[in-house]
Amino acid sequence: MLVLGIESSCDETGVALVEAVAGAAGGAVGCPRLLADALHSQVALHADYGGVVPELASRDHIRRVLPLMRQVLADAGRTLTEVDVVAYTRGPGLAGALLVGAGVAHALGVALDKPVLGVHHLEGHLLSPFLSAEPPQFPFVALLVSGGHTQLMRVDGVASYTLLGETIDDAAGEAFDKSAKLLGLGYPGGPALARLADGSADGSRPKGDEKAFDLPRPLLHRKTLDFSFAGLKTAVLTQVNKLGTEVTDTTRANLAAATQAAITDVLVAKSLAALEQTGLGTLVVSGGVGANARLRQKLNAACAERGMKAFYPELRLCTDNGAMIALAAAMRLQAGVAQPQPAGAYDVLPRWGLETQNLPPHDAATTPAT
Ligand code: KG4
Ligand code: ZN
Repeated sequence: MLVLGIESSCDETGVALVEAVAGAAGGAVGCPRLLADALHSQVALHADYGGVVPELASRDHIRRVLPLMRQVLADAGRTLTEVDVVAYTRGPGLAGALLVGAGVAHALGVALDKPVLGVHHLEGHLLSPFLSAEPPQFPFVALLVSGGHTQLMRVDGVASYTLLGETIDDAAGEAFDKSAKLLGLGYPGGPALARLADGSADGSRPKGDEKAFDLPRPLLHRKTLDFSFAGLKTAVLTQVNKLGTEVTDTTRANLAAATQAAITDVLVAKSLAALEQTGLGTLVVSGGVGANARLRQKLNAACAERGMKAFYPELRLCTDNGAMIALAAAMRLQAGVAQPQPAGAYDVLPRWGLETQNLPPHDAATTPAT
């Protein structure tokens, strides 16, 4: 079964084609296979504004989505008529941007007489490590860290998600982005702040000293698995104001390193607490902040020390992409927990909780393994 996936929830247009693996009668079902994917990032479009401009994002998705789809089909050596299901991001995200993907998916469905499936963006992130050469196995704890969300989930299978904790204010990505802005770095701030903190590989730009500033690690030692990052941003602002015109390249790199250390320390501590609380030994990290090298380094070391293992999506699939949307649709279809719908009338869900993707509790226990 071929699933075409379309992602358009924010500032990246992504299209991908995956093949769902049909299990032999009653036999095990493997991970869906990625045949091709293509992405257009709107970073340059929004850079002058210091953040995403929703109207510009929607218009650009309209321009990009069909050429990307043609590229994906050509790269995979397939035609549109071979597609069995058209999947798209139904939410959460920017309403206008989501409507572009939903509209295109339903129009394709009507034109091709094929069914469509609306996918939860965070389920896409959460399942994205299943496209890696070494995929994780259920059950696991998932740390979902994107620009809009910071959540710890217990994942027992496809459509079996239990929220363990989440941010009570800013998301981890937002903390990176807002701190980066205070440091005078461009959008998107997360990767820019990480580059400044980590220095350059050839040593021409030294890495920052993360101990040069003492920044808060909110809720670090509390029993809760919730996060809070709003205070950190205020602490960074205080330091920036204190430095005033005295700021040098070195102090900026130090402050960037201290900020990255504070955010990643909290993410690592809460992930370990979630593993301990659930008794699970597998951690899956996904979403844009999952691309952060320092976070990966710390999580890998902490997990190895405890005989546990952390899994990540391929670096290029950490941030938004079409592959994870096609994958999530294929995994739901393979597991028999979703039915594609006839194309036609559609809606989008800009605010949408991941728990809505669960099977009813009495069915969840029988969720087929994938
Ligand atoms: O998952 P994503 O692409 O989009 C959302 O669904 O939000 O995540 C984007 C977020 C942004 O806040 C961005 O600054 C952050 O991920 N990010 C990073 C890195 N790469 C992306 N944060 C820290 N270090 C990185 N290397
Ligand atoms: Zn995302």
